[in-house]
Amino acid sequence: MAEAQIHDFPSLFSLEGKVAVVTGGSRGLGLTAASALLQAGAQTVFISSRKAAACEAACAALNALPNLRPGARAVSVPADGSTVEGVRQLLAQVSARTDHVDVLLANAGATWGEAFDRHPDAAFAKVMDLNVRGVFNLVREFAPLLQKRASVEDPSRVVITASVAGLGIGTLGKQGTYGYSASKAAVIHLGRNLAVELGPRGITVNSICPGFFPTKMSNGLLKMSGGAEALAKANPMRRLGRPEDIAGVIVYLTSRAGAHVNGAAIEIDGGAMWQRGELNVKL
Ligand SMILES: NC(=O)c1ccc[n+]([C@@H]2O[C@H](COP(=O)([O-])OP(=O)(O)OC[C@H]3O[C@@H](n4cnc5c(N)ncnc54)[C@H](OP(=O)(O)O)[C@@H]3O)[C@@H](O)[C@H]2O)c1
Repeated sequence: MAEAQIHDFPSLFSLEGKVAVVTGGSRGLGLTAASALLQAGAQTVFISSRKAAACEAACAALNALPNLRPGARAVSVPADGSTVEGVRQLLAQVSARTDHVDVLLANAGATWGEAFDRHPDAAFAKVMDLNVRGVFNLVREFAPLLQKRASVEDPSRVVITASVAGLGIGTLGKQGTYGYSASKAAVIHLGRNLAVELGPRGITVNSICPGFFPTKMSNGLLKMSGGAEALAKANPMRRLGRPEDIAGVIVYLTSRAGAHVNGAAIEIDGGAMWQRGELNVKL
């Protein structure tokens, strides 16, 4: 019967031969995502963040992974994703090495925690510039490379790292993340708009919405909220996020398995955002 036929199941989650760009790839969730892309078979993964030394260190760690395809490489391309000049510098570095891109992870992000009454305009602007304008600039500038080999049958992929703070309410109080939460809500909706605009060009656009994953960005909030153990206990799944939780969703969205998912925002938080209570910290 036709329903039992799945075309080439063994390659459904494969990224064999793909070329990817990961912003904020030098550490944290971006580094995990880059590792997942390479281990799923990607050929070239460009790692970008502001600090060249951090990008190079991340590439060295990725290139030392024992299970990469022959010739697979992580390549350092430092740039500031919060300005259009920086995004164009990134495009120039990538274009010098490839004529197409299959996967773009718009992952770089910044946050700011401060009480409502003192929350500074400059911090709000900085967060919006990277988390929203930066993502729009990135997708617009990379669209020609993403379109190069794309078709509706075999689409290129954009995955935006948003947050559950863009779906629910962010952190309030002393370390309020008003700009951050608003930026993540904005970028999720930007993703939906781009999904409909770029789908016919053979590019899908989806957002991932992580909950609490220990990283440099989240560690301060983690301490302030009672520590990893207390937060884990308060989660419906009784733990925080792990690298494999990011890896699984990234490979799903960027492989043939996710080819018809477009405009989605996927929560990766153990269900915590549906829970009520004091320790329901959002990131
Ligand atoms: N960790 C969590 O619990 C959590 C939860 C929900 C959402 N997120 C989101 O996940 C994404 C990654 O965060 P993370 O937790 O992995 O944080 P992280 O460890 O602090 O990593 C942030 C990355 O972004 C880069 N970056 C910062 N500003 C940049 C800029 N202007 N231009 C280019 N790159 C820049 C950083 O490198 P440089 O300093 O070298 O630029 C670094 O590679 C963010 O969008 C964040 O909002 C995280």
